[in-house]
Amino acid sequence: MRMYDLIEKKKRGNELSKEEIEFVVEGFTKGIIPDYQISALLMAIYFMKMTDEETYNLTMAMANSGTRLNLSAIEGVKIDKHSTGGVGDKTTLVVGPIVAACGIPVAKMSGKGLGHTGGTIDKLESIEGFNTSVSEDTFIKNVNEIKIAVAGQTANLAPADKKLYALRDVTATVDNISLIASSIMSKKLASGADGIVLDVKCGNGAFMKNEEDAVKLAEAMVKIGKMAGRTTMAIITDMNQPLGCKVGNALEVIEAVDTLKGNGPEDFTELCVVIASRMILASGILGSDIYGEKQENLDKAVNMVKEKIKTGEAYDKFCEFVTMQGGNVEVIKNIDLFPKASYIEPVVYNGESMYIRQIHTEDIGKASLVLGGGRETKESVIDMAVGVDIVKKIGDTVKNGDVIAYIYGNSPDKVTQAKDIILNAYLYSNEKVNKPKLIKNIVI
Ligand code: URA
Repeated sequence: MRMYDLIEKKKRGNELSKEEIEFVVEGFTKGIIPDYQISALLMAIYFMKMTDEETYNLTMAMANSGTRLNLSAIEGVKIDKHSTGGVGDKTTLVVGPIVAACGIPVAKMSGKGLGHTGGTIDKLESIEGFNTSVSEDTFIKNVNEIKIAVAGQTANLAPADKKLYALRDVTATVDNISLIASSIMSKKLASGADGIVLDVKCGNGAFMKNEEDAVKLAEAMVKIGKMAGRTTMAIITDMNQPLGCKVGNALEVIEAVDTLKGNGPEDFTELCVVIASRMILASGILGSDIYGEKQENLDKAVNMVKEKIKTGEAYDKFCEFVTMQGGNVEVIKNIDLFPKASYIEPVVYNGESMYIRQIHTEDIGKASLVLGGGRETKESVIDMAVGVDIVKKIGDTVKNGDVIAYIYGNSPDKVTQAKDIILNAYLYSNEKVNKPKLIKNIVI
């Protein structure tokens, strides 16, 4: 087989076979096929697209390029969830403990922040002592004992995807549905769960800017998951404004704890209830309707989630999870022990009374990044205390002097920069604006 012929074949819009795709992935992972040939193939894929069969074969080849996690030593149906990334998305911190409190094993590999979006691993590391690099044995033992463990992706999880992603990033070939779907699903399949609930974000703070593209991505990922024999579903959710109010690592953990206690923001609580209830259904503990096609089953799952929050079992599970992974649970019980920002600066609206029409969500993520809440380079050390607390959201009214957000920072210069970004991120209207619908679609 020659790489040149495969580039030529794809360039002409023909379908690559399973063997050809495996040849490409293996050759690239081993460093035998050079970057420039893979770049040419990626661009051919970008323009000529891939069939479902090709997308599935690419996913499996990438999933098999490293060590796949073997979760067979964990009893029960293991459920994972994945978000395509957004601003203020701390959902795993809430749904993981809720689902685990229902007795369902949650064995989750999570990522670090990427660009303007935050990552679960960084958030968990804002809890003093929390260890996200547990060994595979400890990971499995923890899930068997308390039904939940969350760890960072191991270096050898789908290494082909890591190399390909880095190349896509610099060759303008990230935004292709097959390439995104196979990239995400290769890591999910290599992580070993039996059921996967995907939260596909859609809007100006997400990869997918409109609902049509988000549905296409969701359909591609659900198809791959099902072809691989996993229960897979996707929920399309709004990312035209930050999720909840808090953006930034420690701030988001605090909001997650509030939500586990039943005191979270309305939109974030709604999302957690929807995702956790779908995870419960996917596990099969409520019967064979794993895709929640019957309303009565959906209602049962939703009630279970609400009950776990009301009784405090979900919060207790979170505390148990923190302790099990070496975190100082006193920090959760007394949030004053979290790292603290030196400055808390209000962002004030000046002007006539208006409605909030739009928020450039990516810019809110960038404001948190500028404050030090994310990585500018691979080597950057994150400031866990900084971030943004959003006070006003789409559809809210504002009058002269109202605070639209608070900035948590540790440097006056960075606070000033973040303030400018936030002021410019808000757009107003003098006509009434409705609050956006959070759950846009479900793909099963
Ligand atoms: N996240 C991934 O893991 N891969 C992509 O291609 C895009 C987002």
